[in-house]
Parts: sequence; structure tokens; C-alpha cells
Amino acid sequence: MGSRIHVFLLLVSAPILLVVAQTNQDFVALKSLIDVWDNIPPNWVGSDPCGSRWVGIRCTNSRVTAITLASTGLTGTLSGDIGSLSELQTLDLSYNKGLTGPIPASIGNLKKLTNLLLVDSGFSGLIPATIGSLPQLSILSLNSNSFSGSIPRELGNLSNLYWLDLADNKLSGPIPVSNGTTPGLDMLTKTKHFHFGKNQLSGEIPSQLFSSNMTLLHVLFENNSFSGSIPSTLGLVTSLEVLRLDRNSLTGSVPSNLSKLVHVSELYLSNNQLTGSLPNLTGMSVIYLDMSNNTFDASDFPPWFSTLQSLTTLIMENTQLQGQIPVSFFALPQLQTVVLKNNQLNGTLDVGSRYGSQLQLIDLENNMIVDFKPRMGFKINLTLARNPFCQETEGTTNTYCDIRKLPDSKYSTPENNCNPATCSAHKVSSPNCRCAYPYMGFITFRAPSFSDLSNTTIYTSLANFLMQFFQSHQLPVDSVSLSNPTRDTDNYFVLTLEVFPPSDQDGFDQTGVSEIGFVFSNQTFKPPHNFGPYTFLSLSYPFGYFEGITGAKKSSSTAIIIGAAVGGCVLVLLALLAGIYAFRQKRRAEIADKQNNPFASWDRNKNSGDVPQLTGARSFSFEELKKYTNNFSETNDIGTGGYGKVYRGVLPNGHLVAVKRAQRGSMQGGNEFKTEIELLSRVHHKNVVSLVGFCFEQGEQMLVYEYIANGTLKESLSGKTGIKLDWMRRLRIALGTARVADFGLSKLRGDLEKGHVTTQVKGTMGYMDPEYYMTQQLTEKSDVYSYGVVMLELVTARQPIDKGKYIVREVRQRMDKTKVGYNLQEIIDPVILGITLGGLEKFVDLAMRCVVEEGNERPTMGEVVKEIESIMQIAGLNPNSDSASTSASYEGAIKGYDHPYSDDSLFVYSGQYLPSKVEPQ
Ligand SMILES: *[C@@H]1O[C@H](CO)[C@@H](O)[C@H](O)[C@H]1NC(C)=O
Ligand SMILES: *[C@@H]1O[C@H](CO)[C@@H](O)[C@H](O)[C@H]1NC(C)=O
Ligand SMILES: *[C@@H]1O[C@H](CO)[C@@H](O)[C@H](O)[C@H]1NC(C)=O
Ligand SMILES: *[C@@H]1O[C@H](CO)[C@@H](O)[C@H](O)[C@H]1NC(C)=O
Ligand SMILES: *[C@@H]1O[C@H](CO)[C@@H](O)[C@H](O)[C@H]1NC(C)=O
Ligand SMILES: *[C@@H]1O[C@H](CO)[C@@H](O)[C@H](O)[C@H]1NC(C)=O
Ligand SMILES: *[C@@H]1O[C@H](CO)[C@@H](O)[C@H](O)[C@H]1NC(C)=O
Repeated sequence: MGSRIHVFLLLVSAPILLVVAQTNQDFVALKSLIDVWDNIPPNWVGSDPCGSRWVGIRCTNSRVTAITLASTGLTGTLSGDIGSLSELQTLDLSYNKGLTGPIPASIGNLKKLTNLLLVDSGFSGLIPATIGSLPQLSILSLNSNSFSGSIPRELGNLSNLYWLDLADNKLSGPIPVSNGTTPGLDMLTKTKHFHFGKNQLSGEIPSQLFSSNMTLLHVLFENNSFSGSIPSTLGLVTSLEVLRLDRNSLTGSVPSNLSKLVHVSELYLSNNQLTGSLPNLTGMSVIYLDMSNNTFDASDFPPWFSTLQSLTTLIMENTQLQGQIPVSFFALPQLQTVVLKNNQLNGTLDVGSRYGSQLQLIDLENNMIVDFKPRMGFKINLTLARNPFCQETEGTTNTYCDIRKLPDSKYSTPENNCNPATCSAHKVSSPNCRCAYPYMGFITFRAPSFSDLSNTTIYTSLANFLMQFFQSHQLPVDSVSLSNPTRDTDNYFVLTLEVFPPSDQDGFDQTGVSEIGFVFSNQTFKPPHNFGPYTFLSLSYPFGYFEGITGAKKSSSTAIIIGAAVGGCVLVLLALLAGIYAFRQKRRAEIADKQNNPFASWDRNKNSGDVPQLTGARSFSFEELKKYTNNFSETNDIGTGGYGKVYRGVLPNGHLVAVKRAQRGSMQGGNEFKTEIELLSRVHHKNVVSLVGFCFEQGEQMLVYEYIANGTLKESLSGKTGIKLDWMRRLRIALGTARVADFGLSKLRGDLEKGHVTTQVKGTMGYMDPEYYMTQQLTEKSDVYSYGVVMLELVTARQPIDKGKYIVREVRQRMDKTKVGYNLQEIIDPVILGITLGGLEKFVDLAMRCVVEEGNERPTMGEVVKEIESIMQIAGLNPNSDSASTSASYEGAIKGYDHPYSDDSLFVYSGQYLPSKVEPQ
């Protein structure tokens, strides 16, 4: 990888280097970063990043000291030249899912770096050991990426590290500790936060890791594969406040000195194989305690439970508790939730009359309780199902024999004494009832001290904290909205957050978004103490909508909207269909001539046989294309986009072609380019324009498409152009071909018979089958998943490119909450809704089935095709028709393009919807 980038840089930057020889070294380094990045801020022009105040760049004495580009939609890889920015103190590239590949080892040259924030992006590979040589590093947040391999022991050298978050990656192996000659994490005596949850870390938790010299506040090791016993040295870390060891394979008994941890307020030991007697935690000030699903010795309900005065939550499911629950326990003043199911508690239940006023739920399902007599006015949700008490009263209905759960809260920040505004597509009504584009994401609290999600105080206090924070930091925010509180499957508490722009703005610019992203990635914002440690995951910001729609006139005629939308829908469905057809085509693998293989030289690390597998597309030389386009003459220029330009050309045989020429900053790595070519070359369908060939030499990347001069989209939508481009966006998404088309990859280098390939899959992860992360294998059902994401994007009109899985999650959450059908309006693009094709609900339903977690529960691609065909028929469309309304104008698609999302991907693919010749096969 490193060497590939290197070669790439040599090729691409040679001419640039000459030009900029006199400017400072930081610009040269930034230029190298830019060369492998897309979607850089628009004001990154010229050669003076400090003087011309590039967005996201901060300077001191004309040297770059901070790069903060959270949530700006950057894509590409991180060039090794980052290591030349020798004055850099802060690097925040969080929330850019399109940033992929490894962290270059040269990061270790940034000796002044204090904050390295790469949260929730697409990075992968090993965590470079050189990070350990950053003497000033204070905050290291690499969580929610795809890092693999083990935790480098060199991190132990980070003597100034305060925050270490490696959670939610694919890290494996043991936690390294020092041994006299080599460093280890036990040396991190200044570190307050070990957040390692949701990885595959294994081995024993080393007893050497903990000592009285540690000053840790949060130890979050949940959801890993740790084995062996809990080291008793943990009891020496008396600073500890939150301890999560749940969801591992820990054995042995709980060390008795754990009760020395008098500051621990959230303690999770659940879902392990702990044995021995229940620990005696007298003296601790536990607020939230979960020791469920262990194999402790049978014991009576411990009397010390009733001494935990701050306890809000006791979860002791399946822990061999027996005997009676003392009535004093229920009198604990803060108690909210008591889950004691699957134990052998017996006798008569007595909750007393002075039970805690916040008590919401007592779950005693499957115990031995024989009797319960509620006192007057008892109104707590209590479950005694599967107790003798309920068996005796069988036949009669007793309200305490129903299964009860904590009610899911449907909280959503209410309007501020106003009526919610009706917003046009994609905007959201703020709590102040103004339509705008909010910055949106999910705050994940990893160990809150409360469990009653129905108490609205928690949301109002958090919202107030957020607003006070934004105001005191002079961040331009009008209001915040919190919604969809849930306890997710990892037992984290997740809330949707929307941050609205000031009232004189429709949305945020890149500066605004990156500043807000930074306060979360950098943990500058601190929620109220009872929320505990958190992380924020962001949805990508719809810059395109914002920029594209502001100032543009909106069509007000319903007829026009309907007409255009129907036309668009036909196109959408056909486009989907067309993509699907592509998979059904038999492939003739015509391997390009090896002698003419530029990929080998670009991809030194790869097999030399790494040639694109092409069906019918050929390789052109630069000279050839130069000739066919009349030296890329202006008159042949038929369109421009962020990616580069498109030229009309004539082949010697007289065929017209459209040549898409990437401009410098837009080029992909050789491998990505190859993948794109392979993918496009497989798409031969009457409704999809064909790839004729490509050019990949002299530092150029060009794609050559069949050229269709007089498309009929314009005609079919004549007079409806206001809407047309909106549909163009969707068309692009329809084939999901944003960036190297993240689906369909399973068929690459297609050994179809094997059913999978094991090539490392790069690119945007949003469309990727979640099963892929576990199995590292893509199957046909992975394609189905990707199609499902694309279909959801179509109907929700959410930004596609990189957040597919959040779209799935969001739609799923809303559908679950409200049962199917509810407020499709809330998630479905109003334009689509407006036409109610009749098939819409079926379409959504199909999409949802395509994105279920379990691959084998998804429909097959064949079934998807059938259903879409039948949906089209319901809608009165003929899926097999050659109808003119299904074809698009190349020029229309490009020239009139109004910058919807992040431009270039539309540009790449808009040409595909041309009516082209019927597949020769
Ligand atoms: C310390 O660990 C390293 C790496 O595991 C090993 O090479 C070295 O021999 C060990 N040193 C001692 C003194 O155990
Ligand atoms: C704690 O720190 C002291 C002084 O730095 C050192 O002498 C001692 O060995 C350390 N103890 C442990 C258990 O690491
Ligand atoms: C638990 O520990 C406390 C204080 O150390 C002690 O007083 C109490 O008897 C113990 N309880 C049990 C059940 O062992
Ligand atoms: C205990 O284990 C069961 C079965 O695996 C699981 O469904 C339940 O959620 C677990 N309980 C807790 C509190 O984690
Ligand atoms: C409840 O269980 C305890 C311990 O198993 C036992 O000693 C006691 O007799 C039981 N009480 C009743 C009423 O069944
Ligand atoms: C909600 O929470 C607040 C603060 O924690 C508490 O004072 C209040 O009593 C709670 N309300 C209910 C109904 O439990
Ligand atoms: C009991 O649960 C139901 C739904 O499960 C909920 O609506 C109700 O508010 C709960 N009651 C109490 C007192 O928590």
C-alpha cells in the first residue's frame, strides 16, 4: 500500500513539485494528501493554506498546526506525506467513512501531535507501532474503524496519554504489558480511559496491567474474548469509576478486593463464566450493577444489596439467587429497575409500602415465588410469570403474570411553543419550528448510571448541556433535538442527535460541520456525569442538498412533480433492474492483454497478474484518445464535474464515444480504478450505457463510454426539468455505483462457482454486508444486501455514499418503533410518497428484507428481480418495455447538473442511463 501510494505520488506530483518548489513544505505535504483525497473543501486552492485560510486548517507562524476535517465527506486514503507536517498538533479526520486504508507509519514523525482523532471512519490495517513515538500525544481515538491485528505494545511509551479509545474495531490478541525491555500498556499511568470494547481481544487480562500507580477512571473491556480470571490487581486502581468486563469468557471467582473500588458506580460483569460465591460489594457506591448470566454458587439474596443507597439498577438475571427478597431492598430511594429473572427466589413477595418513588420495573419471571398481595395504590410494572404464583392462578387473568419489559421511550425533543413546520424534501423542522439541514448522528453512552429511559429529565438535561456548551464555545447552533432513545444490542444507550444551524442559515458549511464534529470526536463536550463515557457516530452531512437547493427555485406545480416523479420512478426501477440484469448476464472474461497492463506497475504489491477482468472493454493509449477527441478540444467538451471532464470522441470505426477524463485530485488508486473498470465493463444492458474501454497511462485515468447523442429523457420529462435532476441523483444511487460500486464486488475476479471470493475488499463500507465483517467472505447475498441499502437510499433520499448502514439502522429503528407503515412519511422522500405508486410499501418491504442481518434470510437476487418486476407491473409499468421514457440524455445529465451530493459520483455514472444497443449476446 505504502509503496503504491509512493509510486502514485511520484507519477502524479512530479510536475506539481516543480511549480511549488518555493512554497513551504507544509503545502507540499498537503498537496500530497489532496492528491489521494476527494471532496476536499472548495476553498483549498492556491498554494498558501495558511494565508488563504483553508477550511479545516489552522496555522501558527505560517506552519500548519491543526487539521480538523470531521464529517466533511472526505474520501481516499491517508498519504504517508502526512508525516512531513512537522508542526501538526491536532489531526481530526473523524466521521469520514470514505477515508480508507491504513494509517501510514510516518505518522510517528509528528512529534508535536497531541490529538489524533480518527473516529468512525473507514480506516483499516494494523495500528502502526510508530504511534508509540509521539511523546506529546494526549488523546488517541481510533474507535469505530476496521483496525485489525493486535494493540501495539509501543503505545505503552505514550507517557502523556490521557484518553485511549480503540473500541469497535477488529483488534485481536492479548493486551501487551511491559517486561523490562519492551513497553506495555501498564506503563500508561497518566491514562484515564481504556476503551477497548467491541473487539476480538483475547487471552487473560494481564494482572500486571493494573497497579496502584494507575489513575484510570474508565476500564471498558466489554464485548471481547478475554478468558482467565479477573486479576485481583484491579482492586488497586482505586480511581476507577466505570468497569465493564461483560460479554467475555472470564472464569474463576470475582476477586474479593474489588470492593476496594469505592468510586465505581457502573459495574458490568454479566455474560461471562464467573464462578464461586457472589462478590461482597459492601462499601462500594454502585449505581448500576449487572452480574447476569454467570455460574456463581447458589446464594441467598445478599443483604448488602439493600445497603447500596445510590442503586438505580440491579440486573441479576440467571445468577442462582435463592431465598426471599428482603422488603428493605425495595425501599432504596433511587431504584428504577430490578431484573431478577431466571433465579430461584421464593416465598411471598413483599414490596412494602415505601418502595422507591422512581421504581419502574420488577422482573421476577421464572422464579419460585408463591404469593404476592399488592397494597393499595401499587402501580409498578411487576412480572411474576413462570412462578408458582402464576401457575396457581392459571385460567384467571392476573396482571402480574404478563411479561413486562422496560417501556421503550418514544422521546423526541418537543417543539418550543410552536407548531412543527412542513419542510420541503430533506429538511427537518427544528425545535424552533424552522426547516433546515441539521447535523445528525448517534450519541452512544457506554455506561449510563440510569436505566429508566422514560424519565424525560434525562433528555432535557442533556439538551441543556449541549446548548450551553455550544453557546459558551461560540458555535453557531440554533437548537438541538434528541430522539429515539434505545438500549442497543451491545447494551449501550443510544440517542439520535440533530444539531440545527442558526436561524439565518439553512445548513452548515464544512467549517461548521467539522467544528461540531470535533467537539464530539475530541470529547470536548462532556455530558452530565450520570451519562458516563460516550462516543458519537455521525451521519454524513448533506452538503449537496444544502448547497444545491439554496437559491434554486422550487417547482410548485403538483402536476409537474407527479409527472416527473413517475418518470423518475420508472427510471429508478429500471435502473435497479438493469443493475440486477448485469448480474444475470453470463460473463465472457476477456482478460486484457498483459503487455498493455499499466496496473502491474501501479500496484507493485499486488500479484503481477492483477489485470482487470473485462467483458468487451479495451485499453486505449493516451495518444489514441487524444486523437479521437481532437486533442481534448473545447468543442468536444460535453460536461464538467468534480471528477473531471467528459469529451465527445470518434473512434476510427466511426462510433461516437464519451471520454471521461479524471482530473488530478480526483484520481483513484490503481486498484480502485481497476475495480471500477471491471464493474462497469460487466454492465451491458439495453438501458445502461456500455463501457467501451479505458486509458490508464501517463498519469491519466480515463473511461470511454458509448456515446448517445439524443437521449430521450429530456423529451419524456419535457417541461419538468425542475425535478429531473433530482431524479438524476437517484438514478446514480440506483446503480449504487457511487465510488467503485460497493456492491457487486462479490463477483469480481468472479469465481462464481465457489460462491465467494476472498479478495480484500476496500472502498466504502456503507453498502457492505455486515456478515462480511465476521466471515471475510462475500456471497451473492452480500449483493442483495447492498441492493437493499441502495433501495432504502432511494426512498429515504438520505445521502448515499458512505453511511449505508446508518440508513438501514435509522429506517429499521423507525419502522420497529412504530410498526410498518407508520410515518413512512417521516423517512420516505416526499416526492416518491407524493405519487404513491401503490408499489411503494412493497418496495420498502423488499428493501428491508434485503438488509436483514442474516444473509440466508435475505431473498435471492432472482427473487429481488421478480419482485421489482411485479412492483413495476402494479405501478402500471412494463419492466420489459423499451419505452422511451426510460432513457436519459447524457448532456442533460451532466450539463444541467446542480451539484447534489458530492458531485463527482453522479458525474461518473450519469452516463449509464443512456439507451444503448441491445446486449449483443
Ligand atoms: C520481553 O518481551 C520481548 C517480546 O515479547 C522478548 O523478546 C524479550 O525476550 C522479553 N524480555 C524479557 C526480559 O523477558
Ligand atoms: C509505581 O511507581 C513507582 C515510582 O514511579 C515505582 O517505583 C513502582 O515500581 C511503581 N509500582 C508499580 C507496581 O508499577
Ligand atoms: C460483606 O462485607 C462486609 C464488610 O466487609 C461485612 O461486614 C459483611 O458481613 C459481608 N457480608 C457477607 C454476606 O459476607
Ligand atoms: C442472559 O443470557 C440470555 C441468553 O443468552 C440473554 O438473552 C439475556 O439477554 C442475558 N441477560 C443479560 C442481562 O445480559
Ligand atoms: C426458600 O429457599 C430457601 C433456600 O433454598 C429455603 O431454605 C427455604 O426453605 C425456601 N422457603 C420457602 C418458603 O420455600
Ligand atoms: C426523573 O429523574 C429526576 C432526576 O434524576 C428525578 O428527580 C425524578 O424524580 C424522576 N422522575 C420520575 C417520574 O421518576
Ligand atoms: C408499565 O409498562 C407499560 C408498558 O409496558 C407502560 O406504558 C407503563 O407506563 C408502565 N408503568 C409504569 C408504572 O412504569
